[in-house]
Amino acid sequence: MATSSFVDLNDGARMPAVGFGVWRIPAAQTTAAVLDALEAGYRLIDTAPGYQNEEAVGAAIARSGLRRNEIFLVSKVPNRSHGRGPTREAYERSCEALGVAAVDLYLIHWPAPHRGRYVETWETLCALRDERRMRSVGLSNFQPHHLSDVVERTGVVPAVNQVELHPYFSQPALRKLHAEQGIVTQAWSPLGQGGELLTDPAIAAIADRHGKSPAQIVLRWHCEIGTVPLPKSGNRSRIRANLELDFELDAEAVRELDALDRGRRIGPDPETFEP
Ligand code: A2P
Repeated sequence: MATSSFVDLNDGARMPAVGFGVWRIPAAQTTAAVLDALEAGYRLIDTAPGYQNEEAVGAAIARSGLRRNEIFLVSKVPNRSHGRGPTREAYERSCEALGVAAVDLYLIHWPAPHRGRYVETWETLCALRDERRMRSVGLSNFQPHHLSDVVERTGVVPAVNQVELHPYFSQPALRKLHAEQGIVTQAWSPLGQGGELLTDPAIAAIADRHGKSPAQIVLRWHCEIGTVPLPKSGNRSRIRANLELDFELDAEAVRELDALDRGRRIGPDPETFEP
């Protein structure tokens, strides 16, 4: 699926429609997991300094035998690096850790509103992009009012907003805003962190009906609603299975999955999160 399927970004770049997330993969296991993912066909790898595995991701890219331009690499500005100088330094540190000249997409990891510097940080990302230090820039965990603030104050619409998103927290209002502004939604914890969601009876029934696993049903739902899921797994067979999404959900299944929204996060609240 990911090898042949892409989404268009509003800056003219193309991004794989499914990615591999490495949050919570311990550094010692990350190189093997990313190599498994690249071998399985993933071409989007999502990391961040806060995951403490950028070096290990870089080692996998170096050992993969793939050309750099075959991999779409994403990293993020940590909260402690908001502001002009710190953001530039953080970007150089990420590139060095990853062993690359540039990432493909660079995001502000969290709005960290109490720091009051996300607009300045966004202006810095835009400047770096204008200097051709990376192809695309975007946001992560921005709520509608943070997003509107950034766009109104800078006039630059991000290519992507990466947020927590799964059937129990499907963020319809934010997705609508993204669609109106041409922003692609990336989903972190697309499987609801592998908890209760994957044993939900409604999803089990849809899985039986389609002859697929619950995880495949959830990931296919992301594709159907137009979000780019970034599933994490440290297990080779689940890494592979999570990319076998070349099937369609019937319309009833999409409606049933949409109806599971509880409007409650599993992860931190972007309004207050300070990692
Ligand atoms: P594991 O790494 O052992 O495969 P999310 O991407 O939503 O954060 O979910 C990640 C969690 O879901 C991890 O605990 C991962 O465990 C688990 N997971 C990933 N893929 C599958 C799958 N196909 N079936 C069941 N659990 C999965």
